[in-house]
Amino acid sequence: MKTVSLLVGFALLGATALNSFADDNDSMMHMNHHAMHESIIDTRISLNLSPEMKQHQLSIMRSHVESVQSIVGLISIGDFDQASKVAHAKLGLTHEMKQMCGMFGNEQFEKLGLAFHKSGDELGNALQTKDVSKSLQALHDTMGYCVQCHATFRQ
Ligand code: HEC
Repeated sequence: MKTVSLLVGFALLGATALNSFADDNDSMMHMNHHAMHESIIDTRISLNLSPEMKQHQLSIMRSHVESVQSIVGLISIGDFDQASKVAHAKLGLTHEMKQMCGMFGNEQFEKLGLAFHKSGDELGNALQTKDVSKSLQALHDTMGYCVQCHATFRQ
Protein backbone atom coordinates (compact mmCIF):
# COMPACT_ATOMS: atom_id res chain seq x y z
CA MET A 1 0.00 0.00 0.00
CA LYS A 2 2.78 2.35 0.95
CA THR A 3 4.64 1.48 -2.25
CA VAL A 4 1.55 2.08 -4.31
CA SER A 5 0.86 5.51 -2.86
CA LEU A 6 4.54 6.38 -3.24
CA LEU A 7 4.42 5.31 -6.85
CA VAL A 8 1.27 7.34 -7.43
CA GLY A 9 2.97 10.26 -5.72
CA PHE A 10 5.98 10.04 -8.02
CA ALA A 11 3.79 9.65 -11.03
CA LEU A 12 1.88 12.81 -10.06
CA LEU A 13 5.07 14.70 -9.37
CA GLY A 14 6.45 13.58 -12.68
CA ALA A 15 3.33 14.64 -14.47
CA THR A 16 3.41 18.06 -12.80
CA ALA A 17 7.07 18.50 -13.64
CA LEU A 18 6.45 17.50 -17.23
CA ASN A 19 3.54 19.83 -17.42
CA SER A 20 5.43 22.81 -16.13
CA PHE A 21 8.31 21.99 -18.46
CA ALA A 22 5.86 21.94 -21.30
CA ASP A 23 4.45 25.28 -20.12
CA ASP A 24 7.90 26.86 -19.95
CA ASN A 25 8.74 25.46 -23.29
CA ASP A 26 5.51 26.73 -24.66
CA SER A 27 5.98 30.26 -23.41
CA MET A 28 9.59 30.26 -24.60
CA MET A 29 8.51 29.15 -28.01
CA HIS A 30 5.84 31.77 -27.89
CA MET A 31 8.37 34.47 -27.07
CA ASN A 32 10.76 33.37 -29.79
CA HIS A 33 7.91 33.23 -32.18
CA HIS A 34 6.86 36.70 -31.13
CA ALA A 35 10.35 38.14 -31.50
CA MET A 36 10.77 36.45 -34.83
CA HIS A 37 7.43 37.69 -35.97
CA GLU A 38 8.33 41.25 -35.09
CA SER A 39 11.54 41.15 -37.06
CA ILE A 40 9.76 39.61 -40.01
CA ILE A 41 7.08 42.27 -39.90
CA ASP A 42 9.23 45.35 -39.63
CA THR A 43 12.97 45.80 -39.76
CA ARG A 44 12.73 49.10 -41.59
CA ILE A 45 14.36 52.27 -40.32
CA SER A 46 11.94 54.32 -38.26
CA LEU A 47 11.79 58.05 -38.91
CA ASN A 48 10.43 58.57 -35.37
CA LEU A 49 7.87 61.05 -36.53
CA SER A 50 5.58 63.02 -34.24
CA PRO A 51 1.83 62.33 -34.62
CA GLU A 52 1.45 65.57 -36.62
CA MET A 53 4.29 64.71 -38.97
CA LYS A 54 2.86 61.23 -39.45
CA GLN A 55 -0.48 62.59 -40.61
CA HIS A 56 1.25 65.13 -42.80
CA GLN A 57 3.44 62.51 -44.44
CA LEU A 58 0.56 60.10 -45.00
CA SER A 59 -1.56 62.76 -46.67
CA ILE A 60 1.31 63.58 -49.05
CA MET A 61 1.64 59.87 -49.76
CA ARG A 62 -2.04 59.54 -50.54
CA SER A 63 -1.68 62.38 -53.00
CA HIS A 64 1.27 60.56 -54.59
CA VAL A 65 -0.77 57.44 -55.19
CA GLU A 66 -3.59 59.57 -56.58
CA SER A 67 -1.15 61.26 -58.99
CA VAL A 68 0.03 57.89 -60.25
CA GLN A 69 -3.59 56.90 -60.86
CA SER A 70 -4.26 60.14 -62.77
CA ILE A 71 -1.15 59.72 -64.89
CA VAL A 72 -2.03 56.14 -65.85
CA GLY A 73 -5.59 57.21 -66.73
CA LEU A 74 -4.36 60.16 -68.80
CA ILE A 75 -1.91 57.93 -70.70
CA SER A 76 -4.77 55.55 -71.47
CA ILE A 77 -6.78 58.31 -73.14
CA GLY A 78 -3.72 59.78 -74.85
CA ASP A 79 -3.70 63.05 -72.89
CA PHE A 80 0.06 63.25 -72.51
CA ASP A 81 0.15 67.00 -71.97
CA GLN A 82 -2.06 66.78 -68.92
CA ALA A 83 -0.22 63.69 -67.67
CA SER A 84 3.05 65.58 -67.98
CA LYS A 85 1.63 68.52 -66.04
CA VAL A 86 0.52 66.23 -63.22
CA ALA A 87 3.91 64.53 -63.14
CA HIS A 88 5.84 67.81 -62.88
CA ALA A 89 3.43 69.47 -60.45
CA LYS A 90 2.71 66.55 -58.14
CA LEU A 91 5.69 64.20 -58.37
CA GLY A 92 8.42 66.55 -59.61
CA LEU A 93 11.03 68.33 -57.54
CA THR A 94 9.02 71.41 -56.61
CA HIS A 95 10.19 73.81 -53.93
CA GLU A 96 7.53 72.38 -51.60
CA MET A 97 8.67 68.79 -52.07
CA LYS A 98 12.32 69.75 -51.68
CA GLN A 99 11.54 71.30 -48.31
CA MET A 100 9.32 68.43 -47.28
CA CYS A 101 11.92 65.76 -47.87
CA GLY A 102 14.35 67.59 -45.58
CA MET A 103 11.79 67.88 -42.78
CA PHE A 104 12.03 64.30 -41.60
CA GLY A 105 15.51 64.55 -40.11
CA ASN A 106 17.06 61.64 -41.98
CA GLU A 107 19.74 62.25 -44.60
CA GLN A 108 19.25 58.94 -46.40
CA PHE A 109 15.52 59.54 -46.56
CA GLU A 110 16.08 63.03 -47.92
CA LYS A 111 18.44 61.75 -50.62
CA LEU A 112 15.99 59.07 -51.68
CA GLY A 113 13.11 61.54 -51.63
CA LEU A 114 14.99 64.03 -53.80
CA ALA A 115 15.99 61.31 -56.29
CA PHE A 116 12.34 60.24 -56.40
CA HIS A 117 11.13 63.76 -57.20
CA LYS A 118 13.85 64.19 -59.82
CA SER A 119 12.53 61.05 -61.47
CA GLY A 120 9.05 62.63 -61.32
CA ASP A 121 10.37 65.45 -63.53
CA GLU A 122 11.99 62.91 -65.85
CA LEU A 123 8.60 61.23 -66.05
CA GLY A 124 7.07 64.59 -66.98
CA ASN A 125 9.64 64.94 -69.77
CA ALA A 126 9.12 61.38 -71.01
CA LEU A 127 5.37 62.04 -71.20
CA GLN A 128 6.09 65.02 -73.45
CA THR A 129 7.36 62.58 -76.10
CA LYS A 130 3.82 61.11 -76.23
CA ASP A 131 5.40 57.71 -76.53
CA VAL A 132 3.45 55.18 -74.44
CA SER A 133 6.32 52.78 -74.01
CA LYS A 134 8.81 55.50 -72.97
CA SER A 135 6.22 56.99 -70.64
CA LEU A 136 5.46 53.69 -68.94
CA GLN A 137 9.17 52.96 -68.60
CA ALA A 138 9.65 56.33 -66.87
CA LEU A 139 6.64 55.70 -64.62
CA HIS A 140 8.08 52.32 -63.78
CA ASP A 141 11.38 53.98 -62.80
CA THR A 142 9.60 56.54 -60.64
CA MET A 143 7.59 53.85 -58.91
CA GLY A 144 10.81 52.01 -58.22
CA TYR A 145 11.51 54.80 -55.71
CA CYS A 146 8.12 54.28 -54.03
CA VAL A 147 8.98 50.63 -53.64
CA GLN A 148 12.56 51.25 -52.49
CA CYS A 149 11.66 53.86 -49.91
CA HIS A 150 8.77 51.84 -48.47
CA ALA A 151 11.08 48.86 -48.15
CA THR A 152 13.65 50.97 -46.28
CA PHE A 153 11.67 53.37 -44.07
CA ARG A 154 8.66 53.43 -41.85
CA GLN A 155 7.16 56.17 -39.79
C1 HEC B 1 11.53 58.77 -49.74
C2 HEC B 1 10.57 57.84 -49.21
C3 HEC B 1 9.25 57.58 -49.86
C4 HEC B 1 8.94 57.62 -51.21
C5 HEC B 1 9.85 57.92 -52.38
C6 HEC B 1 7.55 57.28 -51.30
N1 HEC B 1 7.02 57.04 -50.07
FE1 HEC B 1 5.12 56.48 -49.67
N2 HEC B 1 5.55 56.33 -47.68
C7 HEC B 1 6.80 56.56 -47.14
C8 HEC B 1 6.76 56.24 -45.72
C9 HEC B 1 7.92 56.36 -44.73
C10 HEC B 1 5.45 55.82 -45.43
C11 HEC B 1 4.91 55.31 -44.11
C12 HEC B 1 5.13 53.82 -44.12
C13 HEC B 1 4.98 53.15 -42.75
O1 HEC B 1 5.25 53.76 -41.71
O2 HEC B 1 4.65 51.95 -42.76
C14 HEC B 1 4.71 55.89 -46.70
C15 HEC B 1 3.36 55.58 -46.85
C16 HEC B 1 2.68 55.58 -48.04
C17 HEC B 1 1.28 55.28 -48.21
C18 HEC B 1 0.29 54.97 -47.09
C19 HEC B 1 -0.61 56.19 -46.89
C20 HEC B 1 -1.63 56.03 -45.78
O3 HEC B 1 -2.48 56.92 -45.65
O4 HEC B 1 -1.59 55.03 -45.03
C21 HEC B 1 1.01 55.34 -49.54
C22 HEC B 1 -0.34 55.08 -50.24
C23 HEC B 1 2.23 55.71 -50.22
N3 HEC B 1 3.22 55.86 -49.28
C24 HEC B 1 2.33 55.89 -51.59
C25 HEC B 1 3.50 56.24 -52.25
C26 HEC B 1 3.64 56.28 -53.69
C27 HEC B 1 2.56 55.91 -54.70
C28 HEC B 1 4.92 56.66 -53.93
C29 HEC B 1 5.59 56.87 -55.25
C30 HEC B 1 4.88 57.50 -56.34
C31 HEC B 1 5.57 56.85 -52.64
N4 HEC B 1 4.67 56.60 -51.64
C32 HEC B 1 6.88 57.23 -52.51
C33 HEC B 1 7.92 57.00 -47.78
C34 HEC B 1 8.04 57.19 -49.16
